[in-house]
Amino acid sequence: MIIALAPMEGVIDSILRELLTKEGGIDQCTTEFIRVTDRPLPDHIFLRYCPELRHGGRTKSGVPVYVQLLGSRPEFLALNAARAAELGALGIDLNFGCPAKTVNRHDGGATLLKDPPRIFNIVSAVRQIVPASIPVTAKVRLGFADQSLSVEIAQAAADGGASVLTVHARTRNEGYEPPAHWEAIARMRSAIRIPVVANGDIWSPADYLECQRQSGCRDIALGRPVLACPNLPLMLKSVSPLAPLRWDQVLAEWLNPFLHSCAQQVSDAFALARGKQWLRQLTRQYPEAVDAFARARSASTLVDFTSRLAD
Ligand SMILES: Cc1cc2nc3c(=O)[nH]c(=O)nc-3n(C[C@H](O)[C@H](O)[C@H](O)COP(=O)(O)O)c2cc1C
Repeated sequence: MIIALAPMEGVIDSILRELLTKEGGIDQCTTEFIRVTDRPLPDHIFLRYCPELRHGGRTKSGVPVYVQLLGSRPEFLALNAARAAELGALGIDLNFGCPAKTVNRHDGGATLLKDPPRIFNIVSAVRQIVPASIPVTAKVRLGFADQSLSVEIAQAAADGGASVLTVHARTRNEGYEPPAHWEAIARMRSAIRIPVVANGDIWSPADYLECQRQSGCRDIALGRPVLACPNLPLMLKSVSPLAPLRWDQVLAEWLNPFLHSCAQQVSDAFALARGKQWLRQLTRQYPEAVDAFARARSASTLVDFTSRLAD
């Protein structure tokens, strides 16, 4: 069973990747998407999204980080993928799932799901230029407005040379609305021969079992659920049942160290914003987080936020 940390733009950056992979259970990470238009990106952009490139492309705990690119022009995606590979990326992931209106209006992300041959063209252009030892993977949804092209989408990615396909089990128009349609992944999976990673709404060990039953996938990617329950990857991999961490452990071992790293590496204001963001995600799992969020959401300084958390 492989557990990947799903990319989350504006949320899961290198600071959070370092913290989350330290706990164990996560086998692979992917950066937030890097937007590619019609030119080569300067190296500092790759290094900003993926500072791990300075350390062999791995988090401090040794977990590989793939660089995710988003765009619609095969030649420029290929050019930038090649540069990311030269800089030491251990894998290139291509984003065909982003539902954001601005991204879609600029012909990127989930828009490409409407036209599977374009997915094929992009994946194959990137695959041809990136050294064979470096995996090129693709992240898709079930379709744009509906699921009618889901199998063609999977085949386009596989035929283009993707070595793994991650499927977020919703259409673009479904955004992040539950439920995720894990059963639809099975249809895509049975049409291709590459490994498929299931993604979307796997919040608990029971969800994992149900997702596996419906999709046939053992491998999964987890985004929001890891933020809600940081030891979920270990819970899923543990042979004997493992409980979620207690709230005091989450505070002491996760949230406070995270605030500290954000403040040290970026600024207090950044730590405050990211701290509130994470606390909100934790409210899904921890009743204590609901109270803490109510107390701390209006804090305007990091010191105030930290002291309200501890109340
Ligand atoms: C705030 C946010 C940002 C996201 N950014 C990205 C991204 O940069 N690249 C990507 O492929 N998916 C992105 N996603 C989608 C997630 O990777 C994932 O597919 C989705 O959240 C469903 O999985 P989950 O239920 O495990 O969170 C984002 C999702 C959210 C909520």
